[in-house]
Amino acid sequence: MTSAPRLTVVGNPGHRRVTLFAAAARAAGLPEPAVLPWLDVLRGGYRIAPGALLRVESPGEDGTVDRLLRGAALGAGYAPTRVEGGAAWYAGLTAALDGLAEAVRQTPGARLLADPAEIAVMFDKRRAHRRLAAAGVPVPPALGGESPSGWAELKERLASAGLRRVFLKPAHGSSAAGVVALEFGPRGQVQATTSVELADGQLHNSLRVRRYRSEAETAAVVDLLAPDGLHVEQWVPKSAQREHAADLRVVVVAGRATHVVVRTSRHPMTNLHLGGARGDLALARAAAGPAWPELPAVAERAATCFPHSPMVGVDVLPTAGWRRGLVGEVNAFGDLLPGLTGLAGGPAEGLDTYGAQLAALQTGPPPGPPPHPHRPAPPTGAAR
Ligand SMILES: Nc1ncnc2c1ncn2[C@@H]1O[C@H](COP(=O)(O)OP(=O)(O)O)[C@@H](O)[C@H]1O
Ligand SMILES: [Mg+2]
Repeated sequence: MTSAPRLTVVGNPGHRRVTLFAAAARAAGLPEPAVLPWLDVLRGGYRIAPGALLRVESPGEDGTVDRLLRGAALGAGYAPTRVEGGAAWYAGLTAALDGLAEAVRQTPGARLLADPAEIAVMFDKRRAHRRLAAAGVPVPPALGGESPSGWAELKERLASAGLRRVFLKPAHGSSAAGVVALEFGPRGQVQATTSVELADGQLHNSLRVRRYRSEAETAAVVDLLAPDGLHVEQWVPKSAQREHAADLRVVVVAGRATHVVVRTSRHPMTNLHLGGARGDLALARAAAGPAWPELPAVAERAATCFPHSPMVGVDVLPTAGWRRGLVGEVNAFGDLLPGLTGLAGGPAEGLDTYGAQLAALQTGPPPGPPPHPHRPAPPTGAAR
């Protein structure tokens, strides 16, 4: 007797990402997916069922998981709202993913529907930017070289590169945490727009976007962000919709742009929790006119840089009156868009982002890590 391979979600039990995926599985007539909690993956000692197909979900939005990943780095100063600790978070995530991949390799018939190496690149905005640029995908020009050590160095390098308006992004950040839109006025005045709140020498995420206009405060913020790594790129003048800055989140499943949502905001960052709102896709298409296909196509080109990932969520920054798109980032877990159905006429019409991935799984080759590169067998003798 054989049974269909069991889908298992590596995720945070009860989180919307997990329940929405389970709902999509039920809608597709599949059995309820099992859940392997991130907490177990991080603590070790978990077991993978033979034959399991493992979908990897975001470890985010779980206090215990977050604390395990970066709590030690922040010590007594840990708080879920803290911005710092990204480097530790990243080290913990990538180590856990490598462990998971190894456990999958050792489980008969089990398969990982994700590539830890590609996730690791997507969660390092500097590496992801380099990979996209090398592949000829349009991206905002970035400050090359090492991550700046702090404000003094950043200021000097921006001046010599002639960059007056830039986005600073924590290398391992997401959800706009720690993102700073920085501009220098004609007389060198500084303005930093960010949701970061500087309090008692610590950085906290807030839901309010604020402006720092003093160089001392901006320097303090940058000096606290820099140790975790910063990606610095030109601030793209994004196209607007109804007088709000706008960008696109394009979900690419199995190489095809299946879902597109316009995000608009009165702030330079469009992330929805910071007051951004879903915009009007028809209006964006009309504004782009004949150039429209280029925007989802840019996202598909970005996705070719991550060929072993089942889905990527690409932030496309529209510019030049919606006629050009630059890739702002590629998200490994960029598919939490409840209620959004796929583009008409495409492979995901009528399906949400999760349904689209399940459909792709049933029809196409499974995603996942490439075959393990050959490693020489470890020495068995006593001689070293
Ligand atoms: N180079 C840029 N120019 C203009 N806006 C940008 C740029 N990069 C990012 N943004 C805006 O800032 C927001 C957050 O940046 P993003 O790179 O997506 O980081 P996160 O991982 O925190 O979402 C995006 O919604 C986007 O609209
Ligand atoms: Mg983003």
